[in-house]
Amino acid sequence: MTETSPVARRRTFAIISHPDAGKTTLTEKLLMFGGAIQMAGEVRAKRSGTQTRSDWMAIERQRGISVVTSVMTFEYADRVFNLLDTPGHEDFSEDTYRTLSAVDSAIMVIDAAKGIEARTKKLFEVCRLRDIPIITFINKMDRETRDPFELLDEIEQTLALDTAPVTWPVGSGRSFAGTIDLRHKLLRRIDVEEEPTPVSGPDDPLIDTLLPAHEIDAWREEAGLALEACKPFDLDAFREGHLTPVFFGSALRNFGVRDLIDAIAEMAPAPRDQEADQRTVAASEPRMTGFVFKIQANMDPNHRDRIAFIRVCSGKLARGMKAKLVRTGKPITVSAPQFFFARERGIVDEAFAGDVVGLPNHGTLRIGDTLTEGEDIVFRGVPSFAPEILRRIKLNDAMKAKKLREALQQMAEEGVVQLFLPHDGSGAIVGVVGALQLDVLKDRLQAEYGLPIDYEQTRFSICRWIEAKDKVEHERFLNAHGSSIANDLDGDPVFLAANAFSLKYEQDRWKDITFTDVKDYQ
Ligand code: G4P
Repeated sequence: MTETSPVARRRTFAIISHPDAGKTTLTEKLLMFGGAIQMAGEVRAKRSGTQTRSDWMAIERQRGISVVTSVMTFEYADRVFNLLDTPGHEDFSEDTYRTLSAVDSAIMVIDAAKGIEARTKKLFEVCRLRDIPIITFINKMDRETRDPFELLDEIEQTLALDTAPVTWPVGSGRSFAGTIDLRHKLLRRIDVEEEPTPVSGPDDPLIDTLLPAHEIDAWREEAGLALEACKPFDLDAFREGHLTPVFFGSALRNFGVRDLIDAIAEMAPAPRDQEADQRTVAASEPRMTGFVFKIQANMDPNHRDRIAFIRVCSGKLARGMKAKLVRTGKPITVSAPQFFFARERGIVDEAFAGDVVGLPNHGTLRIGDTLTEGEDIVFRGVPSFAPEILRRIKLNDAMKAKKLREALQQMAEEGVVQLFLPHDGSGAIVGVVGALQLDVLKDRLQAEYGLPIDYEQTRFSICRWIEAKDKVEHERFLNAHGSSIANDLDGDPVFLAANAFSLKYEQDRWKDITFTDVKDYQ
């Protein structure tokens, strides 16, 4: 893979943060660096429509939260960036986890006054499971902040992750004057738009003109310590997920963002090799492979389309090509693959490993599906989590039962909710990780299918997938618990328990049965 090959040029990443840390602001600023919407080079795109991302879902506007996960592609410094957006609200964390299965690196945004917050920690842990390298951006340096060393220490202690400050702040809050690049000894000033100025180091007299006199000595001591005592940036340790380069800035003031995007271009890895069930697929392989990590409905209110987001893992996805949908063994035609830009989407002729394209379809593609040029492999790592809330659907109009079944099946395939069909023939149960998913389901059933529904409590509060090496034992367990067993969308059985006690009771009695709370999509 040469540096100029299409794969080597790709950077596919996400931003992880706690709500309010500045993810949206930073995203906007990153997209500005992308500048022009059209893509040059091997990706040619046609404009189509001028719809804004925020139009995609009325519910997103109503609630003022980002419900949808989407991708934004832009070019900068001879790199193609695919920024995968993740929902801010934790009720949609399933979506976020799936999205993180499709990235090669992540930016962790931390509010300089608050440090590591709960959701940042949780999302970081998901990244760690996949050894995703993390670049840290300490944001809001233009406001009152905590001490930079204290913040670095907190990252190291809370996340067990080494830190290497690449830039160091010159002042903070009202006296925030810029940053100094510790590796290259360059001063970037917040009040000057130009390229950074070379300096001799923290002792450079230029800095005396930037900070209030009473802050200078303390700052020099601190910056000197950062230079001497902090770990230097180590590319291998970063790529292996053991060390995070740290940048300081202010997304709102568009400061430090250029250093950050340069870091993604230079330090962040090109598309990684991906684990499939039979083998590891190298990004440089010539034949196309990819997987679906997200289905999005209603992106365009004028067209009732459903878009499957595919992460291309190897080869070239070409417009018009035939691909094999491994789950069904059937071919599908990739007739109108789409790229997504800041405000528009367009048809692309070709996409490469690392790219994320949308394939419009009418329900053929599901989350977790693998597409290949013929090979029977299935990519791993697009997870499904045991729901934490279970509800039965109440439909007042019995005539519409069949329509409801179809609609629920579709919603489950899109990953809006999980669907469980009890073995005893009682009504379908939906499961969600966050309560807002239930609101989305209800709104969409009404708006798209004309189905007014309500929810009823069930006697179950816990759901676990059940597996056993011994098929007879598995069968025996299913038969003994008929009214507490249901099938998921793939036909895999789950055990529904009233509470943690009854789950524990069964676990103690059935030692050969494994109860799991996470499953890879098939
Ligand atoms: P999120 O997506 O992570 O939830 O955060 P978002 O970008 O929406 O930012 C949350 C708030 O923090 C916003 O203010 C935003 O303007 C502010 N903010 C983001 N980056 C910076 C920064 O570098 N410095 C300062 N001082 N503020 C920053 P808000 O008042 O909640 O929203 P708005 O009314 O400004 O939109």
